[in-house]
Order: sequence, then C-alpha cells, then structure tokens
Amino acid sequence: MESHLKSLLQPLGRTELCDSVIPALLDCISEIAKSLRESQHVSLAGTTNAFGDGQLNVDMAAENLVREALAKCPSIVTASSEEEPVERAAGDGQAVNPTSEKYTVAFDPLDGSSIIAPNWTVGTILGIWDGASAINQQPSEKQIASVLGVYGPRTTAIIALRVPGGEPQCLEIGIGGSGQEHQIIRSNVRLADPPFKTRYFAPANLRVAGQSENYMRLIMHFIEKSYTLRYCGGLVPDIVHALVKGHGVYVSPVTVASPAKLRRLYELFPIALIMECAGGKAIDPATGEDILNRPLEDCDETAGLVCGTAEEVEIVKKVLLGA
Ligand SMILES: *[C@@H]1O[C@H](CO)[C@@H](O)[C@H](O)[C@H]1NC(C)=O
Repeated sequence: MESHLKSLLQPLGRTELCDSVIPALLDCISEIAKSLRESQHVSLAGTTNAFGDGQLNVDMAAENLVREALAKCPSIVTASSEEEPVERAAGDGQAVNPTSEKYTVAFDPLDGSSIIAPNWTVGTILGIWDGASAINQQPSEKQIASVLGVYGPRTTAIIALRVPGGEPQCLEIGIGGSGQEHQIIRSNVRLADPPFKTRYFAPANLRVAGQSENYMRLIMHFIEKSYTLRYCGGLVPDIVHALVKGHGVYVSPVTVASPAKLRRLYELFPIALIMECAGGKAIDPATGEDILNRPLEDCDETAGLVCGTAEEVEIVKKVLLGA
C-alpha cells in the first residue's frame, strides 16, 4: 500500500500527506476498531455534543484517538470535529512544520451512534483540506482527500484523493490489527455504468414519505421498478455498500417534517468527494446542486444528500424536485 500511495502522491509534491497524514489516519482507524471491540458497554457519557446528540463513551474514545493521531502530524495545522465543531490548532504548538504542506482535518469520529449498541457497522469520516481552514473555501478544490473508516466484521477504509495536478483516485484498504500492515483491497474503486441486473436503493428517513408527496412518489418508483432495498441506517456502511457493489443510490431528503440533519463539513463533504472520485455524483436534494459546489460559512451547517451513480442521482433529482 505504501508504495502505491507514494507512486500517486510523491510526483505531486505531497510527501507529508503520503508519509505522515494518511498512514496516521489509517493507524487511527485500526485503533478505533480495537477500542470498539474492547468496549463491553456502550453508554451515554453524560454530555451532549454541540448538535444535541447524546455523547457515548465510545464517541469520546474515538474523538480522542483521532485528536492524538492528528497531533502527531506536523503538517496538520487545524482540526475540528462533529463532537467539537470549532476550528482549532491541531497540535500542541511544539511540532515544527517541516514542509510547505499545510492541512486542515474535519472529522466525525464515530458516525452511527444509534446503531452501536446492537453492534451494527459504524464508521469514521475524515476530510482533509489544503490550507489552514475549511471555512469559506471552495470545497470541490480545497478538500483534496477524504477517508472513511468502516467498522464491521472486518475493518476497512475507503480513501479518495483529488490532489491538484493528479487524477482523482478512490481506493479500498483492508485495515490491519496492531502491528499488521494495511493492504490494498482495490486500487481503483469505480461505480459501474448501466445496465445493471439489480438496482439498489437506500432510503433514509423513510418515515417522512407519508408527509412528502415527492418522496412517496420516489419510493413507489423504486418499488414498481423492482429495486432491491439495501439500507441499515448507518451512513458509512450504506454508502460503502454502493461503492463495493459498484452501483446504487442513497437518498436522505429534506422535508418540512424532517429538517436537514447531515453535517456538511463532517459528513457530506468527505462522502461527496469519495462518490465523485469513484465516478458518481452527490447532490443537495433541496436544490439539485453538487454538494461540493458551495463553500461552508459555518461548521454547523446541515443539508440532505442524494448520491450514487450519476444516472440514478439524476432520476431521484427529477422526482424529488418535482421537475
Ligand atoms: C460485535 O461484532 C464483532 C464482529 O462483527 C464481534 O467480534 C464482537 O464480538 C461483537 N460484540 C458483541 C458485544 O456482540
């Protein structure tokens, strides 16, 4: 895996990203997996995060592990997370940045709190930005990499790279346990072109279909066209399902009854980069605009999500926007 990353990133002058940032994040995913396996109890830690979600002991353990990993990388100058959505200096101020590379990391340490107790698959979401802030930056250009950690029976990761001067890349990695190496499972994750024998759909917030005529029409379309339901309620495994199968569509609409819930900085931007690097699309269901088009003004912003193969996203957009 190391030599493959080197061949992709060294020619682009991204030594720190290649030798320090990505390895530190992959090792951290391995650590979080270990800490989840060793957590016999999953309990509320007694606080709520800035978004009003109850904070779990495992959320806080994951948050701390990511913060420790970031502090080890001198090129990471700024960090913020879903648990603490304020941009702050990432290190202890002691490390000297050895190169011209300077990154900001925005992350959701453990996505899927509500399905941790039944031991379903959950994930970590990380976005890596060029420069000292993600705020007021063009997401499609400045978020140059993202990483998803997937904690299921196996621990895997998806890496997207879109570094200026290079081709977009999407890789699937098998994460090793302590002392083991990480291995490439697939060096080129691509969503396939139609026709498909099966079509997969993942409808989040299905309960609001009763209050939204367009969402109900969309669900009826999926049923009438014999789509196969693949939805578990964890954003990361639901997205990774489409990447592994090579096609599918994920829909999290925004309706009057159900305001936008997904965080643009900590969830939507990293996932949108992965979808685009795999040849798919990710749009805002309220406007039809690409998720990565509009800069962030505030770390707390939320939106809905439609993503997957371009063809399916187009169909969903038409039905949801009533076009
Ligand atoms: C949770 O699932 C993992 C594998 O997916 C397993 O190793 C572990 O024992 C399970 N833990 C519990 C408490 O069921």
